[in-house]
Amino acid sequence: MKTEKLEIIIREAIPSDAKDILEFSEQTGAETDFLVYGPEGLELSEAFEAMYLEGLIEKENAIMLVATIDNEELIGIASVGSNDKPKTQHVGEVGITVAKDFWGYGLGTALMEEVEIWAKESGIIRRLELTVHADNERAIALYEKMGYQREGVLSRAMFINDAFADGVMMSLLID
Ligand SMILES: CC(C)(COP(=O)(O)OP(=O)(O)OC[C@H]1O[C@@H](n2cnc3c(N)ncnc32)[C@H](O)[C@@H]1OP(=O)(O)O)[C@@H](O)C(=O)NCCC(=O)NCCS
Repeated sequence: MKTEKLEIIIREAIPSDAKDILEFSEQTGAETDFLVYGPEGLELSEAFEAMYLEGLIEKENAIMLVATIDNEELIGIASVGSNDKPKTQHVGEVGITVAKDFWGYGLGTALMEEVEIWAKESGIIRRLELTVHADNERAIALYEKMGYQREGVLSRAMFINDAFADGVMMSLLID
């Protein structure tokens, strides 16, 4: 039997990834209830997303990483968003999504490791934070494995399938 070897590449997103990223948001929004959007995805224009990615490349306290198979099929995204205000520019909000077919193979771990390495090298980010659906056991297990601490429960942080859900606030301090 011939086994096919796939190369998974994790790299910074570039403006020409915009179309794939928007399609990925629609695909993954349909695959899980644990994202802030549903099957409609991010609902941004390709031009807007490309412009956003262009700006991101210049920023030292924000990033988007994409995981691809052979640099073709997009299968995962991790991002850190921040602002440029001196009082809060050290805080990065983490987002992560892996395509459902690839859950459980360690890609989420690899993306979170890359985020942490980038944060340490940024010289600016001193806190990574996120809010996760309280029932999202897979994501919470991933974050705890990476050393993120639970900081509190945000009651009714989300409204999904006609019901409120709690969010768990988690963070990792970067020293
Ligand atoms: C959460 C998500 C990013 C994890 O990605 P992944 O590639 O499946 O993660 P990994 O394979 O690296 O697994 C990470 C950890 O999850 C845990 N895990 C795996 N399967 C699990 C399961 N069925 N139940 C509970 N925990 C599980 C394990 O602790 C695993 O660590 P280990 O490999 O050391 O055992 C992915 O499931 C996803 O994109 N989900 C939908 C979007 C989402 O929820 N994003 C987060 C929003 S806050």
